[in-house]
Amino acid sequence: MIKDQEVANIIRKEENKQQFKLSMIPSENFFSADVRKAVGSVFMHKYAEGNVGKRYYEGNQFVDKLELLTIERAKKVFSLPENWSVNVQALAGSNANLAVYLTLLNIGDTIMGMYLPDGGHLSHGWSYEPKVEQNPNELTYMGGSRKVNISSKIFKTVQYKTNPNTQLFNYDEIERIALEHKPKLIITGGTAYPREIDYQRMKQIAEKVGAYYLADIAHEAGLIAAGVNKSPVGIADVVTMTTHKTLRAGRGALILANKEMIKKINRSILPGLQGGPFNHSIAGICVGLGETLNPEFKEYASQTVKNAQFLCSELQKYNFQIVSGGTDKHLILIDLTNKPLLGKKFARALDYAGIIANMNTMPQEKQSPANPSALRLGTPWITTRGMKESEITLIAAWINQVMEICSQWNELEFADFENKVKSSPEIATIANQVQELCMNFPLEI
Ligand SMILES: Cc1ncc(COP(=O)(O)O)c(C=O)c1O
Repeated sequence: MIKDQEVANIIRKEENKQQFKLSMIPSENFFSADVRKAVGSVFMHKYAEGNVGKRYYEGNQFVDKLELLTIERAKKVFSLPENWSVNVQALAGSNANLAVYLTLLNIGDTIMGMYLPDGGHLSHGWSYEPKVEQNPNELTYMGGSRKVNISSKIFKTVQYKTNPNTQLFNYDEIERIALEHKPKLIITGGTAYPREIDYQRMKQIAEKVGAYYLADIAHEAGLIAAGVNKSPVGIADVVTMTTHKTLRAGRGALILANKEMIKKINRSILPGLQGGPFNHSIAGICVGLGETLNPEFKEYASQTVKNAQFLCSELQKYNFQIVSGGTDKHLILIDLTNKPLLGKKFARALDYAGIIANMNTMPQEKQSPANPSALRLGTPWITTRGMKESEITLIAAWINQVMEICSQWNELEFADFENKVKSSPEIATIANQVQELCMNFPLEI
């Protein structure tokens, strides 16, 4: 154990929380002991600016071996065409996207991504106008003066929304918006879109307007690696992903593209955006990619989706409305507009009951992002623990109980609401039941 007692105590508390609560944030997962050992390895000591065989500093023989192995594994896991390669150095998904933008675009070009409140990502060009209410019938979003992400500071942005009736991608409308605004880059992918994307159709739209097509598969990378979701490889011009969500390979990112483009992307990463790569993170990614080739990974990925789908149907029994009516993936979005508690209070109440989730915006959102109408739940981590349908039945019942118990306090100010939840014996009882369930599925910490 770490000798620094102050830090050791905080780590122990985090370990206990992870062990005894249900982590149901879709972007999180629990990595194997081997991935964690690799991330904690001596590779963290080394500076390795440059790429395989071309480093600025000496002593990178083994970093080169490691990076090459990681690239080769990524090629295999994502079935890359012969003329494609991989950058494994982006420190995070947002950096990976920025590196792609810096490679393909000039400052001031137009990028087109999914509207953030419908499930897009900040790094796909988010900006907004404070205190201006959105017209729900307007399906194009041009952003506002608050350019909160670098992608909206340096590029012009246009965003597409989902179909207000189905909450699904509206491909005809996306095509119309693309034809009108002629973006240089079209982006798909997001943080809260529960359905598969028609990559072929998106590529056709991009081709029609002369745009590049970037598929950001940060969330579903593990499902795609396992063949449980469809892959954009061979369709999109470039694919980015995080490695720490469904892929379960430690923190980091991968960028896939043809070899010529990867050479340029490598230069956008260094010297464009970053200094030395995190070799230790790359070591974790390498081990994690290796693990995806085991049959157990495919089982985990398909059970993750089954669990999410079963969670939808169990919650529907309690009259919870599911955005888009279900999921094809590892995540679900509950529309809470027919319930007494919205996202902020419900997520906090669930945390006291031992279920960690997050508040989220949803299509046709009328609330502020600080207290949005939805709750987002994911099944990767609990599936990694080995939980299946019978545990999902218990979890759905607890989620419903928390809503029922806490509804009586829905009118209270947030701090007063939290105090009521904190001191509720009924919520404490659920937290104990959650803990018992977790003890049957122990994490190897
Ligand atoms: C679709 C998408 N892209 C990019 C990112 C950014 O990843 P990171 O947090 O590693 O920067 C995320 C993270 O949630 C994401 O969901």
